[in-house]
Amino acid sequence: MIIETSNTLPRQARPIILIGAGGIVNGAHLPAYKLAGFWVAGIYDIDREKALRTATDFDIPLVYYTIEDMLDRSPRSAVFDIAVPGSEILAVLRQLPDAAYVLMQKPMGEDLAMAREILALTRERRMTAGVNFQLRYAPYINAARNIISQGLIGELCDIEVNVNVHTPWNLWKFLYSLPRVEILYHSIHYIDLVRTFLGNPDSVYAKTTRHPSMPELASVRSAIIMDYGETIRANILTNHCHDFGLEQQHSYIRLEGTRGAILIKMGVLMNYPEGVADSFQYVIKENGKVPEWKTLEVAGSWFPHGFIGSMAQVMLAAEGAIERPDNSVEDAIHTMACVEAAYESNVRGGVRPLL
Ligand SMILES: NC(=O)c1ccc[n+]([C@@H]2O[C@H](COP(=O)([O-])OP(=O)(O)OC[C@H]3O[C@@H](n4cnc5c(N)ncnc54)[C@H](O)[C@@H]3O)[C@@H](O)[C@H]2O)c1
Repeated sequence: MIIETSNTLPRQARPIILIGAGGIVNGAHLPAYKLAGFWVAGIYDIDREKALRTATDFDIPLVYYTIEDMLDRSPRSAVFDIAVPGSEILAVLRQLPDAAYVLMQKPMGEDLAMAREILALTRERRMTAGVNFQLRYAPYINAARNIISQGLIGELCDIEVNVNVHTPWNLWKFLYSLPRVEILYHSIHYIDLVRTFLGNPDSVYAKTTRHPSMPELASVRSAIIMDYGETIRANILTNHCHDFGLEQQHSYIRLEGTRGAILIKMGVLMNYPEGVADSFQYVIKENGKVPEWKTLEVAGSWFPHGFIGSMAQVMLAAEGAIERPDNSVEDAIHTMACVEAAYESNVRGGVRPLL
C-alpha cells in the first residue's frame, strides 16, 4: 500500500513578501518556507523591531519601512503573505496592487460580514487569494485523504475532533479584547478540515463557553456539531483549559469509514508551544479477521509542514497549474459561513426541556 503524504509544489517558487512578523510567522511560516526552498524577499510589520529581529533570524534581505515602501520594492511576481490579526486583513489588502497574489492568515476577517468584504475586494481587484487553512495540508491529513480516496476504509461516515489541552492564550494578546475567540481562532481549522472531507454541512449547532479562570477572554471551549444528515456524524469538541499537566491531555482527529478508521494524534497542541510527537494509526477490516490497528510513520507535521501546502496552492494558481488555490477565498468563505452559523447557534441556544 502506497500512501502519499506530501504536497504538490509549484514548478517555480515565487518570491514571498511577509506582512506581519509575529509568533506564527517565526514559528511556522518561515520554517516551512525554509524546508520547501521558498525564498522570502522581504518583510514588513508595523512593529519594525519585530520585523528586524525576524529578518535577522531568517536571513531576509529587506525590511520595509511602510506598506508603500514594500510595494515600491516588491517584484510583480511576489506572493504577499499576510499574517496579521483578522481585524487588520482588509486594511492591508486594500493597499495591495490589482491582480496581486495573496495568502492571508485565518480567520478571513472577524466575522462573515468582513469575510464577504474581503471576498468582494479580492474579486474586484482580480487577486489570486487564498486563506491559510493549512491543517488541510498537514502530512498526516494528506495521508488520511489518500487512504480514504483509495477506498480503504470504505465510506467516510464519522469525523470527530477532540482536543483537551492547556492552551496559553496569553501568547495572543490581541485576542483579549475580542468578542469571538475559540471557534473563530481555533476550531475554525477543524470546521474547515471537516468541509474538505464532507463538503458544506446542512447546518451547524454549537455551544461555546467561557472559563472561570480566564475571565478576560471570550469563550475558550466549544462543542460543535456539523450536520450532514442521517448517516454522517461530524463533531468537534475542544477544551483549552485542561491545566492539570500533560498526562491526561489529548488531541486527536478520528475518521471512521464503513470498513476502517484512522486516528491522528495532533501533538503540536499538547504542551504548547513545544508540542509532543504526533501519531497516525489506522485499521482496515478484513473478512474473518480480528481488526488490527497499524501505525504509519508520517514524516512532518501540521506545524510547519502544512504551511508549505497552503503557500504552494497560491503559487500553483499563480503559475497557471490550477485554476484557483484549493484554499481560495471563494472556498474559505464557506468555512467563515459555518463559523458564523456556529456563533448564531450558540446565541439561539438549545431546546429547553419542558415537563
Ligand atoms: N495555525 C494557524 O493557522 C495559526 C496559528 C497562530 C496564529 N495564526 C493567525 O496568524 C495571525 C497572527 O498571529 P500571531 O500568532 O503571529 O500573532 P502575533 O500577535 O504574534 O503577531 C501579529 C503581528 O502582526 C503585526 N501587525 C498587526 N497589524 C499589522 C498591520 N496592519 N500591518 C503589519 N503588521 C501588523 C503585529 O505587530 C504583530 O507583530 C492571526 O490572525 C492568527 O489567527 C494562525
